[in-house]
Amino acid sequence: MKSSRVRKITLSLAALAAVGLFMPFSNLFLHRPTPLPVEGSEEFRRVSVVLQQKCADCHTPKRTAYPVYSSLPIANRIIETDIEEAQKHIIFSDDMLQGKTPISALDKAKIQSAFLDGGMPPLKYLALHWDAKITRADKEAILTWLQSEKPLHPDTAGSQE
Ligand code: HEC
Repeated sequence: MKSSRVRKITLSLAALAAVGLFMPFSNLFLHRPTPLPVEGSEEFRRVSVVLQQKCADCHTPKRTAYPVYSSLPIANRIIETDIEEAQKHIIFSDDMLQGKTPISALDKAKIQSAFLDGGMPPLKYLALHWDAKITRADKEAILTWLQSEKPLHPDTAGSQE
């Protein structure tokens, strides 16, 4: 008697764990939209790749790689609300990601702090997207890019003789 109840509980827990793991695991094989070709400097290209892989799901219209569980009612609501909320705050348009539209100084500052503060991608997304964490290399990429774009000040450069 007792052992059969234990077995039932064990089985339910195993089933729960399997379902719980299935979600993030399935995301490792997500079918992503074809990467956009990027114009511009090598430094920008590295940043665009990160934005496309780790941010576009929420911040770029029509470039969400929907998880297999996205058709489930609760998951569906969470995902749609996240996307809506994200794009109210900042949009990385296709043209921006491709280097056709320059990214404004304000957006650059926002992207920089999102990369460096660790606030993006949100934790609940990271829990299910194990490959989306901002790495040290990503942080280096953003800093290198911003440094490379910094205009030289013609009126101050070389003026200190
Ligand atoms: C799961 C969806 C999701 C992903 C993926 C995501 N974001 Fe966000 N992002 C949001 C939401 C929701 C908000 C608005 C609420 C908040 O600030 O937490 C937001 C806000 C922001 C803001 C704030 C804009 C402002 O108004 O100041 C920036 C910047 C940002 N995200 C950058 C990024 C970057 C860069 C990445 C990739 C590294 C990323 N996000 C990935 C959902 C996402």
